[in-house]
Amino acid sequence: MSEQAVTIPGLAAMKARGQKIVVLTAYDASFARVLDEAGVDVILIGDSLGMVIQGQQTTLSAALDDMVYHSRCVARGASHALLLADLPFMSYPSPERAAENAARLIREGGAQMVKLEGGRCRTDIVRFLVSQNIPVCGHLGLLPQSIHHLGGYSVQGREAHAAQTLLEDALLLQEAGARLLVLECVPATLAEEVSRALEIPVIGIGAGPDCDGQVLVLHDMLGLSSGKRPRFVKDFLSEAGDIPSAIRAYVAAVRGGQFPAQEHSF
Ligand code: KIV
Repeated sequence: MSEQAVTIPGLAAMKARGQKIVVLTAYDASFARVLDEAGVDVILIGDSLGMVIQGQQTTLSAALDDMVYHSRCVARGASHALLLADLPFMSYPSPERAAENAARLIREGGAQMVKLEGGRCRTDIVRFLVSQNIPVCGHLGLLPQSIHHLGGYSVQGREAHAAQTLLEDALLLQEAGARLLVLECVPATLAEEVSRALEIPVIGIGAGPDCDGQVLVLHDMLGLSSGKRPRFVKDFLSEAGDIPSAIRAYVAAVRGGQFPAQEHSF
């Protein structure tokens, strides 16, 4: 770990001093190096690789071996950013299986923290991982691994009851020991409330400007993803002209609170 490497306590300190946390996905060493040099705080090796690398319609195709392989590639390119890797679909059916699989992401993949989707139904798993010294990031709101239950990629937590459940889930994950939380596609007012209620940093994607940090899928913010661009995505490459400048523009826009704007929020 280099002297200025981002750490989990360092992320908490950023929240405490009101400094926005910049997160972006990457899946290989070359992009990891560009992100690292641009000052991205956390690189997420997301199971979004099922879509943007493997060309599938959902994230469900990403296997643990894929996640380990891409984490290892990213780890070779990064020396400053904290590496967060997704536990993919069906890799955490029990606390013990979750711990074995998370250990592979850490030991073989070089990840420093793992992310899993879900709220109160996952607190036993989170607690067990934390007891085994595996740092955990929660993920609430739109859960891509539950896409067939949800029936589509829609905004979550719009109704009062769903918003209250999400807030309670966030507090339960924190209480179970999660050190970071990703909130995906929820109304900006709800994301603000959750970010204020939690001591741990909350990273938004499609969750408005008042989270403690922001994450986007790399291919989305470079305008490379197929299909209709979601409201919460901005194409930074078309303005910046080259990839390193686009990443630097994203870092500056998140740090400065210019991204996401109203037009990117729900
Ligand atoms: O897999 C991923 O890239 C993610 C982000 C959308 C947060 O989980």
